[in-house]
Amino acid sequence: MDRLSEINRRRTFGIVSHPDAGKTTLTEKLLLFGGAIQIAGAVKSNKIKKHATSDFMEIEKQRGISVATSVMAFEYRDKQINILDTPGHKDFAEDTYRTLTAVDSVIVVIDVAKGVEEQTEKLVSVCRMRKTPIIVFINKLDREGKDAVDLLDEVEEKLGLRVMPLSWPIGMGQLFQGVYNIYDQKLVIFSPHGKQNEEDIIEIADLSDDTLDKKVGKKAADLLREEIEIVTSVYPSFDRSAYLNGDLSPVFFGSAVNNFGVKELLDCFVDIAPPPRDRETEERIVEPEEEKFSGFVFKIHANMDPKHRDRIAFLRICSGTFQRNTNYLHVRQARQMKFSNPTAFMAAKKEVIDEAFPGDIVGLYDSGNFKIGDALTEGEVLHFKGIPSFSPEQFRYVNNTDPMKTKQLNKGLDQLMDEGVAQMFTKIDNNRKIVGTVGALQFDVIQYRLQNEYGASCDYEPVNLHKACWVHCKDEKKLNEFISRRRRDLAEDTDGKLVYLAESAWALKTVQDNHPDVEFKFTSEV
Ligand code: G4P
Repeated sequence: MDRLSEINRRRTFGIVSHPDAGKTTLTEKLLLFGGAIQIAGAVKSNKIKKHATSDFMEIEKQRGISVATSVMAFEYRDKQINILDTPGHKDFAEDTYRTLTAVDSVIVVIDVAKGVEEQTEKLVSVCRMRKTPIIVFINKLDREGKDAVDLLDEVEEKLGLRVMPLSWPIGMGQLFQGVYNIYDQKLVIFSPHGKQNEEDIIEIADLSDDTLDKKVGKKAADLLREEIEIVTSVYPSFDRSAYLNGDLSPVFFGSAVNNFGVKELLDCFVDIAPPPRDRETEERIVEPEEEKFSGFVFKIHANMDPKHRDRIAFLRICSGTFQRNTNYLHVRQARQMKFSNPTAFMAAKKEVIDEAFPGDIVGLYDSGNFKIGDALTEGEVLHFKGIPSFSPEQFRYVNNTDPMKTKQLNKGLDQLMDEGVAQMFTKIDNNRKIVGTVGALQFDVIQYRLQNEYGASCDYEPVNLHKACWVHCKDEKKLNEFISRRRRDLAEDTDGKLVYLAESAWALKTVQDNHPDVEFKFTSEV
């Protein structure tokens, strides 16, 4: 197959949801359809959250599993589908944001009873910023939940998405009978536990057809007719280009655990989801069809075995063809590197590959050369955009508790920060190090990993901080004035960028008022 056909048949996406909405179950059912796994229960990656309000050891155990399930690739209807796993636990939200930079589209799973939840709102807002096309899957229709119309209103309101239902539920909970698939005009009758037969899928182009009454009863049939009439008049008709621009989100209803509505979702996804999309760099737009290879690292995963301190860097291919044992430019380090064992991830299997195409994710063994956001190219200097760091929510001073191991501590901290476990700020007045995280769990993870992987030990000291803001100012004189006046609140991040550490929202506002020419940003593009 030629290179352009290879690119065009790739569909790289992520599934996002609030924990427990059914992301893992849906992933698993998709993999079953693709023949990538044979048995249910094989995907366990984000079960972490089940135990993990404070149990970080569980996270350590899961880390090994989640390497294998970081990317799950399978073939379906001649398409190569790459699903990128996103952690469910909210303390790892930043990992999820970064993974979303490597996808071309997203499926959002919503629990019919719970509606739109907090985590989903945050994740969708990140997708909307990048205009990532989104399909919504409303799950657990076998349970009592919210009314479908109310739920769509909630999705539009809370997620800021314009929706278009492409399937419609017939009843719910005990009375759930199935869905009418508006997209391909088929009635799909529900049977629990995935025991669906061919005859449960009936083509009904015209809803006045009395087959509908025979299949679901007159009352349900009439209600469906009424609802579909409303749906088709209220919601815009499906326009693929609006979906591809991130302006319109198709909605499907189903029950992942019963494997119901999943095939319809997958079939439509394969038809409409985008192939690899362009990527923005500081220098120019990179198109997948370009002949020369380029890609960026969006995730780094440490090896579980402390004897081998190598890591796996996950590279999203953006253009050209990536080839094994070929020299590429590591842009940040300005040097050539080649890779003898690049791996692809076919579901739970890893295998060494000779080449990979745009949309693919390749795992590169790394002994500490990569940082999140790093680019590899055939020689051109490119810096991929859209891989931000967000202001942490929690901060602590790190103290070295074993002065004989200072070197190990510094190395360990540097490497963990490169992996994106947390962010580190070095105060400019006294060189003290402050670690900032999204959730409390990471502090335990850092301490544990420093000890186990680097033989270094640290403890933490509380520091009262509200936010870290990246500081920009075009006027050098005003910037210097700001620096000299606020020196004790300033720090550098690991890239040497200037950061203002605000003690409170009030302190931040005062500083903003006093220095109107200085910009304070809550995110930093790596
Ligand atoms: P997550 O990855 O989004 O966190 O959710 P996950 O798939 O783990 O699903 C959360 C729970 O919801 C699981 O139950 C799962 O079986 C259940 N579930 C998923 N889809 C459906 C559905 O369509 N209908 C119903 N009724 N339940 C569904 P659990 O008891 O927490 O875990 P498990 O022991 O079944 O694995």
